[in-house]
Amino acid sequence: APIGPPDLSTCTAPRPPLPNCCLRVPSSRPSAFAINSSTPLRTRRALQNVLQDARYLARLNAAYARLRRLEREAPNDPRGLEQQRLLHCAFCERPFVYGRQYNMHGNWFFAPWHRMLLYYHERILAWATGDVSFALPFWNWDSDAAAQKALPSPYANTTSALYTARRSAAAAIQAYIQNEITRDALFGAIGSLTRLDDVIGTATAAGNLEGTGHNAVHIGVGRDMADLAWAGYDPVFYAHHANVDRMWSVWRQLRGRGDPTSADFRNSRFAFYDENGNAKIIAVSDVLDHRTSLRYVYENVPNSWTTARR
Ligand code: C2O
Repeated sequence: APIGPPDLSTCTAPRPPLPNCCLRVPSSRPSAFAINSSTPLRTRRALQNVLQDARYLARLNAAYARLRRLEREAPNDPRGLEQQRLLHCAFCERPFVYGRQYNMHGNWFFAPWHRMLLYYHERILAWATGDVSFALPFWNWDSDAAAQKALPSPYANTTSALYTARRSAAAAIQAYIQNEITRDALFGAIGSLTRLDDVIGTATAAGNLEGTGHNAVHIGVGRDMADLAWAGYDPVFYAHHANVDRMWSVWRQLRGRGDPTSADFRNSRFAFYDENGNAKIIAVSDVLDHRTSLRYVYENVPNSWTTARR
């Protein structure tokens, strides 16, 4: 049967020393997701292509600065960075605190649930910058270029709100990712596959979209990123997941590969907070076509992993 939606106001804190991922938000009556046609169509761009765009980078930085400030000044506001971290933690880290074993890793909810998380996170960033057309950037680590295997420079700038000291050393990050995420590995594990189950997973097993590339970046960046309870506290988490989400989108368009038809998948529902701090319920079927329903697209970049080397 489809699962959800979780009730975000009934969190059961686990016994220490297990991490307490309960959100500190005040309870609010959730409403259902609806397509907002007044939201402009946004384009998520590759980080290597925004490096000269000082205005965009200033906004990205200001958005995270605001989420960090909110965390200090209004700790119960679901839009603060700590609450954003907890939202990921609560559904991705044991123990499961919202009544049942919600786990958004290791099964077919990985791709759509993280898409939902990113969508609401992006709306919150847009609110924080005052720019309704603001879009997340993506970390294009699947690129053949060695430079894209490094932590993107805006996140490495120690004076930026995108920075955290809780990461591995820069050289180690790049070396790890370069070694793990090769074109051949991505082609073999994702680009060459035609079975949906193998790429996005089943009700009980992870797909390669999660296992190949995604996991390596978490481990390579290290510290917060390598710990599901803390990953959402590193701003690069969101740029990393935008790339996973983009690869799903690219793969889905290849030779007309579709989506799971199972109602258990499509009708499962999850809960998030929107840019006004209101609770929202959203179904998997709401997010399968991101352009129509969520109103964003990805900038085109070369996807060499979709074809065999000639
Ligand atoms: Cu829920 Cu990449 O993690």
